Amino acid sequence: MENELQSHRISASDDVEVSTYLEIAKELHGEQPTFEPKLLPPGEKETIVVIDFGSQYSMLIARRVRECHVYCEIVSYDAPWEKIASLNPRGFILSGGPASVYEPGAPLAPTYIYESHLPVMGICYGMQVIASQLGGRVSLGEKHEYGHAILHISDDNCPLFANLVSPLHIWMSHGDQIVEMPPGFKSLAYTENSPNAVIGNGEDIFGLQFHPEVTHTPQGKNILGNFVYQICGCQGNWTPSRFLAESIDKIREQVGKGKVICALSGGVDSAVTATLIYRAIGDNLTCFFINNGLLRREEPERVLNTFQRNLNMDIVYVDVSERFLERLRKVVDPEMKRRVIGKEFIEVFEEQAAKLGKVDFLAQGTLYPDVIESTTAGTKAAAKIKSHHNVGGLPTIMKFTLIEPLRHLFKDEARELGMALDLPEDMIWRQPFPGPGLAIRIIGEVTKEKLEVLRAADWIVMNEIKKAKLYRQLWQSFAVLTDVKSVGVMGDYRTYGYLIAVRAINSNDAMTADWSRLPYDLLARISDRIVNEVANVNRVVYDITSKPPATIEWE
Ligand code: XMP
Repeated sequence: MENELQSHRISASDDVEVSTYLEIAKELHGEQPTFEPKLLPPGEKETIVVIDFGSQYSMLIARRVRECHVYCEIVSYDAPWEKIASLNPRGFILSGGPASVYEPGAPLAPTYIYESHLPVMGICYGMQVIASQLGGRVSLGEKHEYGHAILHISDDNCPLFANLVSPLHIWMSHGDQIVEMPPGFKSLAYTENSPNAVIGNGEDIFGLQFHPEVTHTPQGKNILGNFVYQICGCQGNWTPSRFLAESIDKIREQVGKGKVICALSGGVDSAVTATLIYRAIGDNLTCFFINNGLLRREEPERVLNTFQRNLNMDIVYVDVSERFLERLRKVVDPEMKRRVIGKEFIEVFEEQAAKLGKVDFLAQGTLYPDVIESTTAGTKAAAKIKSHHNVGGLPTIMKFTLIEPLRHLFKDEARELGMALDLPEDMIWRQPFPGPGLAIRIIGEVTKEKLEVLRAADWIVMNEIKKAKLYRQLWQSFAVLTDVKSVGVMGDYRTYGYLIAVRAINSNDAMTADWSRLPYDLLARISDRIVNEVANVNRVVYDITSKPPATIEWE
């Protein structure tokens, strides 16, 4: 491939047009379908599109752009233009990715990226894609660069660096590098090991060898901001209140006089979804709250109270605790537990929906990470670790049209929307709680007795974490009832009791997580209280594993 590339080299000149590059790129990489870009007229809607090549950071890029109040969506590198045109794109960011551009079959950017004449910024692998598709050469670097580096700006007039002071601290993570610049491109910034750490064509195509989206690049958000404002000309008008108004209109239009049902879980996603839809269509929405017997202490009361008293919504409350417990008898396998709970949930939901007569729509609080996980390059081929019964599955089995008003929001954006909707704070800031509830925090068979033990221990963990004012900053904190019993001594007596594990983690999106370094004193209080106040527990351990390799929930 490299020899082939050599023979197509054209001399660098500043006025080589993108179309010339494309002809070369097509010769090198094969014919791609011809394409006539038809952009929507510049309206209020503006989107930065992230072309995903399977980077673990694609979601972070989107979050950072949205933090600039510019709407951003992630699409797979093989997405058709029609999908992108409807977003009214203002520019493209090509993500990083695990491949090497010089390997056969490496994913490349579709030609519409260049033919649309919209600004493009490639990050890491995305930069190498640009370099290779536009006639440069990429090969394996002598040294892998991973971690902190210092970036020196060599072109102070480049708008990408507006208001930045050189040198900058940046985060590198790459093995490949550009060894020959594509025609018309030049280096705009360098590091000790990368002469081409930032490249550009003097107009609106840029490549960054480092990752501006990670917090280890402290001025990275400003670089992304410069790209979206200065180079793409975005206005930055994407805010929760605007999203709220647009969503309400969209829901009214979609639903008309139809009937919608929604299952509340007590969590922020379903609460925001239900409240949003209620604002749009009022009593044509019916919400169910299904008590599967696997909830935490006082949870059903609190959820009902919030919705009925604070939000004035009528909720259908269904207590099917006994039925779930019966189905879970003797079930010990984690995946089997999930399947039993998922199936039972659907049955109960269908029974309740049938009582309402004709129902047209099912509302779900699906968030953007769930959507991206199932549609983009990075996760298309990912192995299934656990089946999450509230994501996917449900709608295809049930014959309703789906409404997912949060499907393009991150968790923190859903929370902001909750604030714009005046939801009570404790609901907005509730830590995530899994659909299968305490069943996947009890190792082995789920019984009434074990549920009571776990509820009591979990109550103490929550109470102490809240008292220590750590509840909001932790992604999740909870107790797990292990299948282990151990010997202890209380007073003069031997005990043989349950082992409780405490788990507290920090995370941004639950895809990765770090165990939280809780203060020892806090851990000591939690442990003391659990062994003193919860019958049949005589030992407490703290889970010090991150995700990966562990998962957040134990089952
Ligand atoms: P894991 O254990 O896979 O969890 O690291 C990642 C996040 O997902 C939550 N979780 C679930 N949420 N239904 C849900 O609604 C489920 O079946 C489920 N399983 C795990 C978990 O609490 C964590 O936030």
